[in-house]
Amino acid sequence: MQYRTKNESETAEVGRKTAAELNGGDILCLYGDLGAGKTTLVKGLARGLGLRRRITSPTFALMNIYDVRTAKDAAVRKLVHIDTYRLENERELVEIGIEDYLGAPNTICVIEWPEKIKGLLKNKKTLNVRIEHTKTGRTIVVNRNLKTENR
Ligand SMILES: Nc1ncnc2c1ncn2[C@@H]1O[C@H](COP(=O)(O)OP(=O)(O)OP(=O)(O)O)[C@@H](O)[C@H]1O
Ligand SMILES: [Mg+2]
Repeated sequence: MQYRTKNESETAEVGRKTAAELNGGDILCLYGDLGAGKTTLVKGLARGLGLRRRITSPTFALMNIYDVRTAKDAAVRKLVHIDTYRLENERELVEIGIEDYLGAPNTICVIEWPEKIKGLLKNKKTLNVRIEHTKTGRTIVVNRNLKTENR
């Protein structure tokens, strides 16, 4: 699925729509440059899962965990938002428990800068979103086909 968005709220809306397609255990990788709109899309996605809490970028925390009670897939209990931009070593994420969440049936994980944790994602099935700057806004490609990471 491909979208073109002209502003922040349209990008959030893509996230909201995408949330409706997600199931427990899904790992959604978000690719795109600095300022592409990855966090903006996650904000909409969280709304789509029924979250009311303010979503902030986990740039320094690396991982923010939200309780979910209202997802379409009722088994979903957590949204885990990961941003690896400042990560120096995958081990840092292992230490804060990422492996408990990646692919857990009651959890949806969304990852900004997934390129930096290829080792942790190896052999995991992921969904992928790519956001690119255009002259007039952003192009967002949402690929819901599970792809096994093995690069
Ligand atoms: N069409 C658009 N979609 C999303 N954001 C847009 C758009 N047009 C302009 N913007 C602006 O671009 C910025 C996107 O910021 P956001 O934090 O979502 O990016 P990010 O990809 O998460 O960046 P980072 O890699 O730093 O985490 C916001 O300031 C937003 O207002
Ligand atoms: Mg971000």
